[in-house]
Amino acid sequence: MSELTELRERAAACTACELHAVGTQTVFGQGSQRAAIVLAGEQPGDNEDVEGEPFVGPAGKLLDRALLRAGVSREDAYVTNVVKHFRFKRQGKRRIHQTPGVEHVRACLPWLQAELDAIEPQLLVTLGATAAKSLLGTSFRLTHHRGELLECSAVPGVPLLATVHPSAVLRAPEDRRDEMLDGLVADLELAGRTAAARK
Ligand code: URA
Repeated sequence: MSELTELRERAAACTACELHAVGTQTVFGQGSQRAAIVLAGEQPGDNEDVEGEPFVGPAGKLLDRALLRAGVSREDAYVTNVVKHFRFKRQGKRRIHQTPGVEHVRACLPWLQAELDAIEPQLLVTLGATAAKSLLGTSFRLTHHRGELLECSAVPGVPLLATVHPSAVLRAPEDRRDEMLDGLVADLELAGRTAAARK
């Protein structure tokens, strides 16, 4: 059994925070243990919670498009989330996304650390402010440092690139959406180039 498969099985039984009791299942990362790039989002959404895979809903479809445009193949990437359970509040039949709290991030971070230790990627990309702040500290400002190659103690010697979350592109006003998507693609292109140069 591969290290990641073993981690996935252990994470399925994780009860480190109360989110395990509200969602359908633990949504562990997906991809090859030999991936050069790890992409870490915030937490699974409604679709991911049901399907048990990260980034399979609308944000995932946009991420796929952006990766394709950036020339980064999904096989070269391992996709995961900082928090591995869906946090939501009910509104009638709908489950509305809620940003995970620091306690959820703290409880879940050991799983991301274990994924990173098993994969030893060439580059870590965080998608959105929650993922970036979980690894770089709460004073990190995505607006100031997105698209930069940063240092992070979770992956010593490996650059971390913080970029926007695909959901932010989907939520952007229509007249800004293309520009935001172009920005995400440019960051992913830099990620691809950087990872390739480090191999
Ligand atoms: N948003 C995330 O941050 N992760 C997912 O897996 C889906 C949506």
